[in-house]
Amino acid sequence: MKSEQYKTPGHRPRIQLSKSICLKATILKFERLISDLQAKYPKVKLMRFDWRTYFEDLCQDHNNSRLKQVGKTIDGKEVSWAQIDLIVVHLKNSLKFEKTHRVVDLGCGNGLICEALSPMVHSIDGYDFSPSLIKKANSAKRQSNIQYNVVDLCKIPSECFKSKDIYLLYEVIQHLTVDELHNLFLSISSSASTGARIFMGGIPEKKRLLNFYNTREKYNYFLECEKSQQPHIGKWWSQNELLDMSVQFGWNCKFISQPKLLYTAHYRFDCIMTKMY
Ligand SMILES: C[S@@+](CC[C@H](N)C(=O)[O-])C[C@H]1O[C@@H](n2cnc3c(N)ncnc32)[C@H](O)[C@@H]1O
Repeated sequence: MKSEQYKTPGHRPRIQLSKSICLKATILKFERLISDLQAKYPKVKLMRFDWRTYFEDLCQDHNNSRLKQVGKTIDGKEVSWAQIDLIVVHLKNSLKFEKTHRVVDLGCGNGLICEALSPMVHSIDGYDFSPSLIKKANSAKRQSNIQYNVVDLCKIPSECFKSKDIYLLYEVIQHLTVDELHNLFLSISSSASTGARIFMGGIPEKKRLLNFYNTREKYNYFLECEKSQQPHIGKWWSQNELLDMSVQFGWNCKFISQPKLLYTAHYRFDCIMTKMY
C-alpha cells in the first residue's frame, strides 16, 4: 500500500450526492474502457506495476519506522501503535487462535503481525518478496516459532501450504491481480485440508472507493495514478469477485466489517474463508 497521502492536500470540500453519482459513472466508464481495450487487443498486456521495488524503496526510505515500511500511515504520518493492537485483537477474535495452529502469513512485510500472533500459535511461516522487509523482520525476531522467507506469492511452491491451519493475507491482495489471486487460491486449495481457513484483511472495497477519495481533488489524483499505471493503493476488490473465487475452489466465504475504530474501516473490509472439502 502506498503511503495514503495526496500531492496537493489543500482545501477538501465534501462531495455532494450528485457529484458522487457522477464520479461513480466516471469509474464505470473508465473500467469499461479498460476492458474494451483488453478485449480488442488481448495480446497487449497492460504493464504490471512493480510493487516489489515499491516496497523495497519504502523500507529503505523509512529505515527507522516499522509502520511506514508497511504503509501503516494516514496522509504520510504513521498511525498509532494502538491501531496495530486493534488489528491483532480483531484477528484474535475472528480466528480464535489455538496453541496447535500452524499459520502462514503471506505478504508478512517486516513481521509486525507475525510477532504479535506468535505467542498464541504453534508456528508462523512469513513470506514476502521484499528482501529488505524480510531482513527487518529477521532482525526484530525474538520468537523461535517464526520463520521468514523471501518469496514471490506468484511463484510460491504449493508445499509451503501443506499441513497449515490458517493462511493470512493482511493488506496484501490489493497488490495482486485477479489472475494472481486465482492462482494463489489454486495452489493453497490443492494443499489445504478441510477446515483450514484463509483470512484476507484490509481489502479496499470497490464500492466504497469514494469514501477514501472523498473530494474531487483526491479522486482526480486516483484517476491520474490509474492513467499512468502507477496505482495509488492497488486493486479495489468487490466482494462478489472474492465470493466467486471461494465457490470455485470449495471454500465457504464470510465477509466481516473492520472494527469501527480502525483507521481503514470506512473503505476496507475483511474476509474469512473456510475450506469445505
Ligand atoms: C501493505 S504491506 C502489509 C504487510 C503486512 N501484512 C502488514 O499488514 O503489516 C503489503 C505487503 O505485501 C507484500 N507483497 C505484495 N505483493 C507480494 C507478492 N506478490 N509476493 C510477496 N509479497 C508481496 C509487500 O512486499 C508488503 O510487505
